[in-house]
Amino acid sequence: MIPTQLDSWKSIEKYFRQIKDQPLKSFITTQHLERFTKDFNHIYFDFSKHRIDHQLHDLFIHFAQDMEIDKAVKAMFSGELINKTEQRAVLHTALRQQNEVPVKVKGENVIPLIKKTDLKIKNFVDAVLSGQWKGITGKPITNVVNIGIGGSDLGPKMVIEALTEFRTPLKLKFISNIDPFELDRLLQNIDLESTLFLVVSKSFSTQETLTNAKALQQIYIQKYGKESIAKHFATVSTQISKAKEFGIHPDNIFPMWDWVGGRYSLWSPAGIAIAFGVGYDNYAYLKKGAYEMDQHFKNTEILSNIPILAAFLTIIYNNLCQYETEAYIPYADKLKFLPDFLQQLIMESNGKSTSLSEKKVFWQTGNIVWGNVGTNAQHSFFQLLHQGTKIVPVTFIAEKTNKTTKFPDHHLILLANMLAQAEALMTGEKNDIPYKNFEGNRPSTTILLDNITPETLGSLLAYYEHKTFVEAWLWQINAFDQFGVELGKKLAKNVLTDLKSVQLKPTHDLSTQTLIERIKVKKNRS
Ligand code: F6P
Repeated sequence: MIPTQLDSWKSIEKYFRQIKDQPLKSFITTQHLERFTKDFNHIYFDFSKHRIDHQLHDLFIHFAQDMEIDKAVKAMFSGELINKTEQRAVLHTALRQQNEVPVKVKGENVIPLIKKTDLKIKNFVDAVLSGQWKGITGKPITNVVNIGIGGSDLGPKMVIEALTEFRTPLKLKFISNIDPFELDRLLQNIDLESTLFLVVSKSFSTQETLTNAKALQQIYIQKYGKESIAKHFATVSTQISKAKEFGIHPDNIFPMWDWVGGRYSLWSPAGIAIAFGVGYDNYAYLKKGAYEMDQHFKNTEILSNIPILAAFLTIIYNNLCQYETEAYIPYADKLKFLPDFLQQLIMESNGKSTSLSEKKVFWQTGNIVWGNVGTNAQHSFFQLLHQGTKIVPVTFIAEKTNKTTKFPDHHLILLANMLAQAEALMTGEKNDIPYKNFEGNRPSTTILLDNITPETLGSLLAYYEHKTFVEAWLWQINAFDQFGVELGKKLAKNVLTDLKSVQLKPTHDLSTQTLIERIKVKKNRS
């Protein structure tokens, strides 16, 4: 299927030309709000400040039907090998399924395996939280450190921060980068005797994770002997034998499966840090919230389907307006890691230029995602959003009330700022002095959660996952592989060998060669 050659896409293009210069606020009517705002499980999605009307939406519905979006959704949920390049199913949805309905991968029902592993996680987390699990010197565990990178870090870290109000007494820390500064700092701030390390790596071959884990393991072996590893290290991986070889005790190894992509792994045992951070029950509620969004996505007609509508808006801006980036601005400090998480989810999924039929695409695909918390962002980059030459669709995300604060007025000021920014972006303000003029007509989405709870957060994250998948399908790219990260990894190994070698062979381009020599010279001097 070539999306841009479909008549239904051409109709969208044609109609869009008619409305592309219409002031955004002229779209806003009661009927418009009825169609483009949605209430779902204590979340209000407001897509009203976008360049879309009923007719364009109807045309899109035809397009989505022509693209057989329903078949794609069904294929994903039912465990078909939709990640074709890797011949894998894509079943993060099975991890949060709230019933026992079988989901089969290559003929095997994965649900019993998931439930069994969940129970193992629950028992492990409960043992640590209750103080029953002791470190090598008999101290209970008070610190849990997640060693992982990408999906094995960003999701759990983001969720634990977002659910600050649900935290257990354990201190959670994350170490991802290979920059030794991270490890040095960590070691200054933990008591080894009361710390548990979670080595989280789906592939168990990620250089950063394994190097950091090995260094920590050696410290334990030297200080407390080999037997300390079983008390202080657990791992999550698809590579059970590699984890055993690494020295992790078999009881402390939690499986993961190749049908869960790295960026979806917070739902899998790789999200175990979440269970430590907010308790197993809250982790289960997070999954429940995601499941509810899964049901909405799977069973709701295109007309009222929230992730599908959101994906369509991204496609309009990306493919018809050439807006290349989108900003995510949480007006909630607790969501400060959400933009980082979304960057991986969206850019690693949809940063592709080969179509599902393995041809180079000739349309624009995945957009660039960035953002930071409001109101801080207002005082740094919002200038460009309001008056720059580039238009950036913005998503504002906030919770309606802050139940725990002693300063409720602050929360109102926060929300007032958020609503004002969305209004200012859309309406602008005419001024004859050019540099004081605000053109407006800059689109935004507002997502208002009643409160940030495990359930609402789960629904929100699943919404973004499905939105990303729909975009990929309509662009006809595979959202579930990430071959683009491989070349850099391979070359880093060569460069490292050269940085360590005495005699440097000229195998690199001159620029890289010169940089290598500079680092070597500096190293030799120091
Ligand atoms: O290099 C990219 C990537 O493979 C991501 O997709 C993944 O989330 C991350 O690295 C970490 O991978 P792993 O869990 O296998 O260590």
